[in-house]
Amino acid sequence: MASSPALQKAFTAAAAARQNAHAPYSRFKVGAALLLQDGSIVAGCNVENSSFGATICAERNAICACVAQHGRVNAEALVLVTEPEASPCGICLQVISDFCGGELPIYLSTPQGLGKPVRLREFLPLPFGPDKLK
Ligand code: THU
Repeated sequence: MASSPALQKAFTAAAAARQNAHAPYSRFKVGAALLLQDGSIVAGCNVENSSFGATICAERNAICACVAQHGRVNAEALVLVTEPEASPCGICLQVISDFCGGELPIYLSTPQGLGKPVRLREFLPLPFGPDKLK
């Protein structure tokens, strides 16, 4: 799976979105791409703000764009592109967790190429979730 054409396409989309990152304060550019079960791809980048707390991470932008475009998040993989390689932040893990199962592979990548997959449940083994609000 790690080198499937669909994953490579998601990697290319994440790397391209990263080029659009608005990161004048941290200069840390992040690209994210969700590979959906129907093969389509939804990408996002980080968008910083002069009021720093208003910054939105790449992963959350991708999730929100996916909801806007598809009405749900049927993801089979998430590709992240950073330099150097980095894990999703805690807030993004929570948001990803509300929309994706723990088996979701997150590919920690750099612009040099697709990285290794780490399962969402490895990052967040005991998630809070919507089931608690029933
Ligand atoms: N950032 C992301 O886009 N995703 C993460 O999961 C970690 C952090 C962004 C936020 C900010 O624009 C920059 O990286 C430095 O924290």
